[in-house]
Amino acid sequence: MSKFVEVFGAEPDGVWRAPGRVNLIGEHTDYNDGLVLPIALPNQITITGSARTDGVVVVATAGQDGIISFDLDSLSPGSVGDWAAYPAGAAWVLREAQYEIGGANLLVESDLPSGAGLSSSAALLCATAVALLGLRDISVDPAEVARLAQRAENQYVGAPVGLMDQMASMCCTAGHALYFDIRAMSTDQIPFDPAADGLALLVVDVKAPHRHVDGEYAARRQSCEQAAAELGVPALRSIAFEDLDDALSRLSDDVVRRRVRHVVTEIRRVEEAVALMRAGRLRDVGPLFTASHASLRDDFEITVPELDVAVDTALAAGALGARMTGGGFGGCIIALVESSEAPAILTAIEKAFAENTFPTPTSLDATPSPGASRIS
Ligand code: GLA
Repeated sequence: MSKFVEVFGAEPDGVWRAPGRVNLIGEHTDYNDGLVLPIALPNQITITGSARTDGVVVVATAGQDGIISFDLDSLSPGSVGDWAAYPAGAAWVLREAQYEIGGANLLVESDLPSGAGLSSSAALLCATAVALLGLRDISVDPAEVARLAQRAENQYVGAPVGLMDQMASMCCTAGHALYFDIRAMSTDQIPFDPAADGLALLVVDVKAPHRHVDGEYAARRQSCEQAAAELGVPALRSIAFEDLDDALSRLSDDVVRRRVRHVVTEIRRVEEAVALMRAGRLRDVGPLFTASHASLRDDFEITVPELDVAVDTALAAGALGARMTGGGFGGCIIALVESSEAPAILTAIEKAFAENTFPTPTSLDATPSPGASRIS
């Protein structure tokens, strides 16, 4: 008997999925109207569902989280907490946007580690949204679903995140990185196939406990907004790379100055990375990864020792470039390496972690995968 039948006592109407992501470059620029370049991962959240007629959404997980249920008519921001805030937030935002979704039985399964900076929150929001819409045969543009999922995370869950993760989960395609210009709200699919060049993208979960991540994220965002206000621009994207020194000289606070320098130089690195990828010069993207990490460590100050040791070790063992990816304070690093050297570089990172008495890191398959879809 399937797990769904075991829990809900009847066959499902369909199955939907939404993936996690890693960002290649452009960290913490999305809420500054910047540029990002994520790929979707093979790891994903899967939701098996059936429609209900009583306006109640029942959500079960395959793990230990238990079953929760809520009435669609009585949802309001914060009314459901903990992990269930994400499915509840997705239902809430769809109702707010006047989509005629109804009650549902939903079974959530995942092979996407949570707390590893791989966007399991965005994936859960997006998977729930596509399942609730799909159960009523409502078709919505993927970028619009992404915007709604971000609104749910901002307003229902209360996390001031940007739009990168939701767009990656909805709009990535297999074999490509998603070049997303947040200001223009435009996307371009950039072919990304390291193996074709004899390369590999390593994704290593450093298993660092996420320390103060929510408060620090909000603080970084606030510094950026404060800087934009001081400089008289709507967002830091408005500061051209050529005008960076002038902008920095007009800011009074040294910490804010460094935050701005990260954002403006990081946006420039995304443009350079995309130009190199388009020119087929993937190896040359490596140094941009490494420069991005230095900027996140020294100017944006969101790395932790585990991330720095993993990056430094990968580089010392021969990686072409390496950087932390995601929100920071834990999570994963990515490293661009010659495929033949991948095993030795992973071994070097494991050895360095053992020497530092860090937890044992794990690596993930980084095959660029498609965004959210219906499976059956
Ligand atoms: C988190 C947020 C994203 C983005 C990244 C940093 O993943 O959810 O919106 O800001 O951090 O690039």
